[in-house]
Amino acid sequence: MVTVLDKTIFSLYAKDILENPKVNKLSEYLHHKNVTRLEHSLNVAATSVKVARKYNLKVDERSIVRGALLHDFFLYDLVNERIENHLVRHPYIAYENAKAEFMLNDIEKDIILKHMWPITNRLPKYKESLIVCLVDTYCAFKEKLNNL
Ligand SMILES: [Fe+2]
Ligand SMILES: [Fe+2]
Repeated sequence: MVTVLDKTIFSLYAKDILENPKVNKLSEYLHHKNVTRLEHSLNVAATSVKVARKYNLKVDERSIVRGALLHDFFLYDLVNERIENHLVRHPYIAYENAKAEFMLNDIEKDIILKHMWPITNRLPKYKESLIVCLVDTYCAFKEKLNNL
């Protein structure tokens, strides 16, 4: 669940992302059962910050938030996709879409491109990317289980 604190962090670090019309189109796609792709991205960003704070990890919070919000920035419906192709390709598609709209730093690029490790066999380079990668999997399971 996204809290008031999360919303404050989002507007501090990622106002431009959340006001972007293409990013807002993510709310039109179901991602996991009844959760939209935008809701999933907000969940991953908020949970990644919580995990980093809980374990007192020294991280670049701004990059975590921005990378997590953009990690699934692809605008197509999953029902029409072959899942094996999608799992491998979508980080690159999200990266291209994100790069076209925003200036990305190296950590944000790594978060987007490596978030499907170990499926994509590209090991996250930064602790921020590893956190988002693990939290993404956790959120995906949670979103699916909550809707069973
Ligand atoms: Fe993804
Ligand atoms: Fe995801």
